[in-house]
Amino acid sequence: MTTPSAYIPALKYNGLTRFYDLVLEKLLREKMWKSYFIKNFINKVPQQVLDIGCGTATLSLMLKNTFPLATVTGLDGDRGILAIAAKKIMERQSDVKLVQGFSYELPFPDNYFDAVSSSLMIHHLSNEDKHRTFKEVYRVLKPGGEFNIADWGKPGNIATRILFYLVQLLDGFTTTRDNVKGLLPKYLVEDGFIKVQELKRFNTLLGSISIYKAFKQGTDLLE
Ligand SMILES: C[S@@+](CC[C@H](N)C(=O)[O-])C[C@H]1O[C@@H](n2cnc3c(N)ncnc32)[C@H](O)[C@@H]1O
Repeated sequence: MTTPSAYIPALKYNGLTRFYDLVLEKLLREKMWKSYFIKNFINKVPQQVLDIGCGTATLSLMLKNTFPLATVTGLDGDRGILAIAAKKIMERQSDVKLVQGFSYELPFPDNYFDAVSSSLMIHHLSNEDKHRTFKEVYRVLKPGGEFNIADWGKPGNIATRILFYLVQLLDGFTTTRDNVKGLLPKYLVEDGFIKVQELKRFNTLLGSISIYKAFKQGTDLLE
């Protein structure tokens, strides 16, 4: 599978990927908001969980620790970062599955996952690919399944807006604009999701991270 030209790696330049975990830990306090993110999964006993744009698999590993009975699959388009993820998974003796692929053409059957998560990936996508991705996530979720997103959102204050220019310089203005305008919930509704809500906003040294939740229509998986 070839990487499309519009593809944006974790820190834009492949040479910077090895510093990714350090940046996330030091600048973004990732453990704090990723823990909140997982705590707010509605389904506490999911069987199949997909983490799209899993990067170095920090969130995938946390998901597997929280839901030990679940099969957790991390998907990413970048083989380089998946190699880092594979090493981490092996060192922690976990059994997160890794798949190379793209969020807008998911290599999974319809109605397969109880929950899909995405952390800091949606802002890498063009407007068109955001919609393609949301439609794909909708397709692979079971009826009533949940989609949990953590991504750059509307800045909580002027300081976080100014700080976010650094992220925009790195990841690009076109792909991040919808995030800053707080448009992700609107797009999720347009692509069929229901009960879409922003659960919380975390201010970080590089901008505000919003936690969103949305559901596929259908019988509630917990009923
Ligand atoms: C900023 S990193 C986030 C990694 C991880 N989810 C986290 O929270 O630390 C974004 C990741 O999304 C991946 N990515 C970007 N576009 C993608 C796409 N269309 N499909 C799959 N992965 C993608 C990148 O390779 C990168 O690993």
